[in-house]
Amino acid sequence: MNDQSSSSPLAHSAVIVVAAGSGTRLAAGAPKAFVPLGESTVLGHALDGVFAAGPAQVILVVPVGFESVASSMTGGHPAEVVVGGDTRQGSVEAGLAVLADGIDTVLVHDAARALTPSAQFAAVAAAVAPGVGVIPALPVVDTLKRVHGGEVVAPVDRAELAAAQTPQGFPRTELVAAYARAVDQRVEYTDDAALFAAAGGAVRHVLGSEEAFKITTPHDLERARMILDAVAAPGPRETGRPVAGMVIPRIGIGTDVHAFSSGGTLRLAGLDWPGEPALEGHSDGDAVAHAIVDALLGAAGLGDIGQHFGTAHPEYAGAHGDVFLARTAEILTESGFAIGNVSVQFQGNRPRFSARRAEAEQALSAALGGAPVAVSATTTDGLGFPGRGEGIAVTAVALVHSIAQG
Ligand code: CTP
Ligand code: MG
Repeated sequence: MNDQSSSSPLAHSAVIVVAAGSGTRLAAGAPKAFVPLGESTVLGHALDGVFAAGPAQVILVVPVGFESVASSMTGGHPAEVVVGGDTRQGSVEAGLAVLADGIDTVLVHDAARALTPSAQFAAVAAAVAPGVGVIPALPVVDTLKRVHGGEVVAPVDRAELAAAQTPQGFPRTELVAAYARAVDQRVEYTDDAALFAAAGGAVRHVLGSEEAFKITTPHDLERARMILDAVAAPGPRETGRPVAGMVIPRIGIGTDVHAFSSGGTLRLAGLDWPGEPALEGHSDGDAVAHAIVDALLGAAGLGDIGQHFGTAHPEYAGAHGDVFLARTAEILTESGFAIGNVSVQFQGNRPRFSARRAEAEQALSAALGGAPVAVSATTTDGLGFPGRGEGIAVTAVALVHSIAQG
């Protein structure tokens, strides 16, 4: 066992990494944990997260014959390696059998959740208490239906549901007892939390993370590869490129198009436009604000509006464009960028803009924490959908620069 200093979030904890499955659905020609991923393997990435979480007893549960390859993957960190069972539950049981003395909290983790952030281990461990198990979970974003054969028989309220992840954490003594009970009963539970609850334990949840998704299918493996490629790729998050002692700032472009609806009140360029019909949209339809968000995120190489504010983030449904702008400015600051300036132009017959230009520029600039924003409007000579009055098209460009390099 490693140093178990009580200041570490995983003090007196063990992490059992179950990696003994065959990966039938992935069908990659090797047990799933040993499938190549980036410059390592699925298990290698999972272990990076585990070891970065802090000192703990680490127990790897692997398929028979993979003991020595698993041992060679720990990067010099001490770890127990044991052979797993026919089921996941059997594999966890094999891991529990080698818990060291002095361990009072056990985290059980799927190797298949290879990109789980190390902070998730600490968050789970910190919430474990006597009689209380903890799982990381995410809110469900899809609309859910109960089905029977080909029929949709009922809607399901997703507010009552959460998608469970790992690591799942438990007090050691109660977890070991709950496993002994399951062995006696010969019952297979869906996960450790269900097994623990069946033995009378309480289970709470903490917020999980998108990155902790389980690699199950070839599509999931591809998703993991893309995430790793994006992190490794030079450029996006790097600061400007120095040329002859001068740092070149970074430019981004964003566009957005929204159709006019038949009612409501238009929200555009951070202002309300009484008497003008609203634009359709997932949020307030402020196409000017949305184009600026994309230009800024693009300039910093930090993705796009869908990634940060899309349907996977229900907390932003119906939010004002100003909220998106303020959060975007924060995201840039957190990544070490300052905004140079933003220039944005919309094409549309309405609203008549020039009289309120200064007001709009002020509102947008304020939402971005003071960065200069220039807004202009143009018509299209009656051509295209903006010319026919069906909607508005917006183009924005933004310049950002690294705070570190000025
Ligand atoms: N697992 C295990 N022992 C088993 C079965 C599963 O240690 N007998 C582990 C897997 O290695 C994985 C985790 O439990 O890290 C979650 O299981 P799952 O995603 O179902 O993996 P596999 O069982 O390997 O995949 P499949 O069901 O597609 O065969
Ligand atoms: Mg399985």
